[in-house]
Amino acid sequence: MEIIHVSAECYPVAKAGGLGDVVGALPRYQREAGHVAKVVMPMYRTKFLNDNQFEVVHKGYTHMGNYWFNYTVIKEQTNRLGFDLYLVDIYGLLDREKIYGYGDDADRFIAFQIAVADWIAVWRHRPDIVHVHDHHTALLPFMFKYCYAYRHLQYIPTVLTIHNGEYQGWLGWNRSNLIPEWDSYKTGLLDWQGTINPLACGIRSAWKVTTVSPTYLEEMRHDAAGLEALLEYEKGKTSGILNGIDTVVWNPATDYYIEDHYSIDTVEEGKQLNKLRLCDRFNLDPRKPLITFIGRLVGEKGADLLPQAVEDSFYYIGRKMNFLILGSGLPDIQGRLTGIQGLARGDYNTYIGYDEALSHLIYAGADFILMPSRVEPCGLNQLYALRYGTVPVVRNTGGLHDTVIDYGDKHGYGIRFNQETVGDMTHGIWRSVELYQQPQKLYEIRQRMMKLDFSWQSSVRAYLDLYEGMRKAAGE
Ligand code: ADP
Ligand code: GLC
Repeated sequence: MEIIHVSAECYPVAKAGGLGDVVGALPRYQREAGHVAKVVMPMYRTKFLNDNQFEVVHKGYTHMGNYWFNYTVIKEQTNRLGFDLYLVDIYGLLDREKIYGYGDDADRFIAFQIAVADWIAVWRHRPDIVHVHDHHTALLPFMFKYCYAYRHLQYIPTVLTIHNGEYQGWLGWNRSNLIPEWDSYKTGLLDWQGTINPLACGIRSAWKVTTVSPTYLEEMRHDAAGLEALLEYEKGKTSGILNGIDTVVWNPATDYYIEDHYSIDTVEEGKQLNKLRLCDRFNLDPRKPLITFIGRLVGEKGADLLPQAVEDSFYYIGRKMNFLILGSGLPDIQGRLTGIQGLARGDYNTYIGYDEALSHLIYAGADFILMPSRVEPCGLNQLYALRYGTVPVVRNTGGLHDTVIDYGDKHGYGIRFNQETVGDMTHGIWRSVELYQQPQKLYEIRQRMMKLDFSWQSSVRAYLDLYEGMRKAAGE
């Protein structure tokens, strides 16, 4: 089967979060399963672009409303990612340093999707599946089916995976001229509550829709940032497929970013060495448990609760633990997290920014990782933590519910709490400190965690079954 993934992110080319990790791994495992998997993404001005060799495979000229533009598709020459990587260059729109965060993001991603459709339209053959990810590429299924310029692509089966339903790509109707001319009977598919909603449009137009965990799909039927009714209505074509992790990149025995490697047999010494490095670098006390957070500093991740939870822990539990926080996001949360630095007595530190290497060292050296998420479609941090013998302390939601069992329950290994409150999180921190004081118990839990298998194998199978079903439907 030939599967084309279209995405805004793909590790190691460009990553802002878990979407990048997934699109950097899933196609490689699909390729290993004997299929042709390709990734098409925007050409940002990244280090990866400078460090690798590309060849031009297509040049086109098309338009977004009245704006005519040239685009170029380049292909990485060595196949070093384990799949074919294509980058779409649109001068002035995509060739920027950051992935998101510009005032004209809507124009950028619509132009990208137009270029992708324009390019696929001239292929001599049709791919078997086009798999799009999140709202940035969710208009493609609509474009294939209902935009006049691409109607000959309407029989290509499309899948939309929702990694994050909180962001939907809303666009005022005054900007509708950006979308290629469509069959006016289908206008309703673009609209959701008076605006153009690319994610809603993708849910309606794609042949199949998946979410990145089964529980998140269930939750979305009740709470999906306004799309609940739509998810309920379309439930016949939705399914939840849990993400896997890239076990080559995320392996404490070979991790490219850490120096002190370890395996399940040497986990105690290995983690200690990595912890010492972290404590040394961030002025923390290696005798105390190291409790960490890695992620986007936004409400969705519960990051706004962190400053108060740290203060309350010091106050009510005592100075029995260290905190280390790595993240970037809302200026208010960043400010509050650095603001409480004054409280620290060699037991609290933050690193505001994005640092891939540091994140690996933290998974390796930390004892606990906090995930107080309000919404967590899957969550990869807890899966990496489990593989590195780091106990996840999570709110019981979405993918966290599907992957973390509380150590108080049968076969459990993590710490779970239910409410998105400072109180519940502080209680989770208290339980972490308690667990740390029982080395034999902690040892057993680490052994149990590191034996878990969250590799891509079963998820790759589930996606392939989904694709097969669509191909059969297309052939009928
Ligand atoms: P999301 O995609 O919602 O941000 P995930 O848990 O799926 O959440 O994935 C987050 C990914 O991004 C993980 O690989 C995590 O290690 C990484 N990450 C998040 N913030 C940072 C940061 N500040 N520095 C380095 N890596 C980060
Ligand atoms: C999103 C979600 C996260 C998920 C990731 C990869 O960014 O917020 O929970 O793990 O996508 O699917």
